[in-house]
Amino acid sequence: MRILVTGGSGFIGSAFLSRFVPENPHHEFLNIDKLSYAAHPLNTQALEQLPNYCFERVDLAHFASVQRALKKFAPDRVFHFAAETHVDRSIRMPLEFVQSNVLGTVNLLEACRQFWDGDQSPVFLSVSTDEVFGSLGDSGAFSEMTPYDPHSPYSASKASADHFCRAYHDTFGLPVKITNCSNNYGPRQFPEKLIPLMILNAMEDKPLPVYGEGLNVRDWLFVDDHCEALWQVAERGKLGETYCIGGGHDVPNIEIVKGITKLMAERRGLDSLDHLITFVKDRPGHDFRYAIDTSKIKNELGWQPSCTFEEGLALTIDWYMSNEEWVRQVRTGEYQNWIDSHYGVAH
Ligand code: TYD
Repeated sequence: MRILVTGGSGFIGSAFLSRFVPENPHHEFLNIDKLSYAAHPLNTQALEQLPNYCFERVDLAHFASVQRALKKFAPDRVFHFAAETHVDRSIRMPLEFVQSNVLGTVNLLEACRQFWDGDQSPVFLSVSTDEVFGSLGDSGAFSEMTPYDPHSPYSASKASADHFCRAYHDTFGLPVKITNCSNNYGPRQFPEKLIPLMILNAMEDKPLPVYGEGLNVRDWLFVDDHCEALWQVAERGKLGETYCIGGGHDVPNIEIVKGITKLMAERRGLDSLDHLITFVKDRPGHDFRYAIDTSKIKNELGWQPSCTFEEGLALTIDWYMSNEEWVRQVRTGEYQNWIDSHYGVAH
């Protein structure tokens, strides 16, 4: 099988490739990635030596480049991870999210439509978010039946991409599957997101900025559990359907932050790091609560998370504490110039 992965140098994409490329030497993998700020070539460095892995720097917003990659590689399966993902950035620069998430997805769908001729039985799996469903009140959980109600420019761009995926399935018969996951965490997540930001700030005695009163609730999914779910959906999920993926750990942000300060204080031999917690101005349009009902993926595919939040968080903290060079490089972005000279500017 020939497997195209978009955004394979980012956080979730690189976790996916790091597991499935070595496990499947009989499959060919092509990673196409724009290598924007949140991706790092170090994330996939270990794969470079493997004969079944290739990389090309491609910006999905450039249709001709997407067409070229699709034509040359002729994939049987597409895992579409590439996206701008940070809500706070989407509030500052919404157009970049339209460009990458909406136009990028439609370009990929359209290129697949042109090159998939009906003889093969390909799968286009689009990796999306639970944020498309909007915000929950005090009770209930999102499921595959929940209507879309996005609030941030980020979630609106992902909702739009999901609608295009369904439109290409319904109109052209493109073999699409969609997954909507909760908040991922784990090694190699860019430190703009809650968990890595708090870990790194707690390492350096910097304030831990908690939005509002820290009562907003997110469900947390360990990235490797997410990747396993994606593989199973591609293998055995139904065409044209959606699968919600969650970690089953939905708690207020302040609890997550206190869990981090506790583990970090233990590792640093300190009594407490709670004095670093600082309540700051809330995010505009901040969704109150996300939670996921994972009955469908559990009942149909037998998937469930394999690690507890406590295990996943400990592993994540240890990864950040022992990968200072990665952290330094992604923070300074110094490798961006090297990327441009090594791969050429993305087009
Ligand atoms: P984030 O990691 O940005 O993911 P998302 O907004 O996609 O859920 O944020 C997770 C939660 O943590 C969200 O409720 C906002 C909150 N948050 C903070 O309180 N402080 C921060 O510095 C960040 C980045 C997020």
